[in-house]
Amino acid sequence: MSEHSTSALLEVTGLEVTYQDVIHALRGVTMRIPTGAIVAVLGPNGAGKSTTLRAVTGLLDFHRGQIVKGTVAFDGTDLTRVPPAHAVRLGIGQVLEGRRIFGSMTVEENLRAASFEDRDMLEEVFTRFEVLAERRRQLAGYLSGGEQQMLAIGRALMTRPRLLVLDEPSLGLAPLIVDHIGQIIADIRAAGTTVLLVEQNTAMALDVADHGYVLENGRVVMDADSETLRNDPDIMEFYLGRGEGGERRHYADVKHYRRRKRWLS
Ligand SMILES: Nc1ncnc2c1ncn2[C@@H]1O[C@H](COP(=O)(O)OP(=O)(O)O)[C@@H](O)[C@H]1O
Ligand SMILES: [Mg+2]
Repeated sequence: MSEHSTSALLEVTGLEVTYQDVIHALRGVTMRIPTGAIVAVLGPNGAGKSTTLRAVTGLLDFHRGQIVKGTVAFDGTDLTRVPPAHAVRLGIGQVLEGRRIFGSMTVEENLRAASFEDRDMLEEVFTRFEVLAERRRQLAGYLSGGEQQMLAIGRALMTRPRLLVLDEPSLGLAPLIVDHIGQIIADIRAAGTTVLLVEQNTAMALDVADHGYVLENGRVVMDADSETLRNDPDIMEFYLGRGEGGERRHYADVKHYRRRKRWLS
């Protein structure tokens, strides 16, 4: 069977993006998100992960960014020039970096703001996230970080997306909560939604994803199935923090260590 035998829900081809006409954020990114898959986009700060998502959701405009080359196709429709509202209507739901919930509105109001009429979906979200159901009349600003992330995910689900894109949903959350978020993402896919997951938490992302793309400096430097990435020595060292000797290290420490090693040799 050829690699392209399953249909791709989202196809990004040769994408180049600049900000303010000068900052070259993406330098030819190609990715394929098959229907029903969870695909992770990994890489350090500034690699171009959020920019890739913005190109998919139509939010580049808000950041004074633009696609200068390449295409983004969602289920065969060219997304390159569609406004964000149109992307939602086509079936793309998104969880932005930093959650962006409305703190002075209740949990239920936050959800209904995404889709006012859909009572059935509201109840589905409350069934999926019991903690949100318990707090439906409370102000969202009083939720914990993990609960706010669940609210942001619940809000994205309100529009019944076929593709859910998430930008670093684990950011700033405790390890136990991160595992929970990972489980939620796996459940969402099991219920039939395709997922594009941007994460700096490589361990969690590779746990739930089928396939991963590693971005650095606006380019894909590696892409493989999650199992292969988990066992790759560079990924282990730089992104999973398990370098020589087996002890946990941070990416920055490893870089520092490498640099020192170079000076000493
Ligand atoms: N709104 C913006 N204006 C100008 N440059 C930006 C903007 N957003 C991101 N960039 C630049 O584009 C590159 C990619 O950033 P980004 O996509 O945010 O990376 P990541 O999400 O992987 O951390 C970086 O060099 C970053 O400084
Ligand atoms: Mg980012």
